[in-house]
Amino acid sequence: MNVLVFDTEEQIGVAAGYYMCGQVLQKPDSVLGLATGSTPLKPYAHMIDLYNEGAVDFSKVTTFNLDEYCKLDVNDKNSYHKFMHENLFDHINIPEENINFLDGNAEDMDKECKEYEEKIKKAGGIDIQLLGIGSNGHIAFNEPADSFQRWSHIVALKESTIKDNSRFFNSIEEVPTHAVTMGIGSIIQAKRILIIALGEHKAKAVKQVIDGQVTPQCPASVLQFHKDVTLMLDKGAASLL
Ligand code: PGA
Repeated sequence: MNVLVFDTEEQIGVAAGYYMCGQVLQKPDSVLGLATGSTPLKPYAHMIDLYNEGAVDFSKVTTFNLDEYCKLDVNDKNSYHKFMHENLFDHINIPEENINFLDGNAEDMDKECKEYEEKIKKAGGIDIQLLGIGSNGHIAFNEPADSFQRWSHIVALKESTIKDNSRFFNSIEEVPTHAVTMGIGSIIQAKRILIIALGEHKAKAVKQVIDGQVTPQCPASVLQFHKDVTLMLDKGAASLL
């Protein structure tokens, strides 16, 4: 694993933004796996800056987002559709038809999940997957569990995740209890993975990812088995290394 420690979140934003855009410069029709949460905000801001400077063109890029809440309108301010449009898609030139999300409101969720996996395959697989990590070691909405869930699936969110995410809602009761997420198998099939962790509350999970036991109780630990992972950390997240 390529572990990079930075002084500030700003610096991580710049480094990660270049990393993602570097992929697109090398391969204009790249398939990007994208994440939501506070972690990717600065990387996305830097990708937008590079686009505005004319340094990168996203017109041939395809994207797949990791996850989405269930039973939340896509136009709700807390939907991940909305988040991605506000923080990235509305500011760069990825064609709308190349943007892919799991549909948290699909009637037949099994079918939805299977079709998403098929779409990723048909697009040639994900070239680079951007990931945050939960303080409990989750990636996307793959929560600690007794076994790794391989493909896209529906999940009941853990109490700790509902609590972590309630900061974006008016009250904890408004946080959806279920989400649909790419599985661990879908994630580790990406050719390259960029995972970012910010803050001391992520330090324990980060340590486990780097030199702990690989266990579904810390879903991100499975990244030890991937051959091309870059981990960008601030000092807080790196404090137990
Ligand atoms: P955060 O969430 O970026 O809001 O910290 C990361 C995650 O839970 O995957």
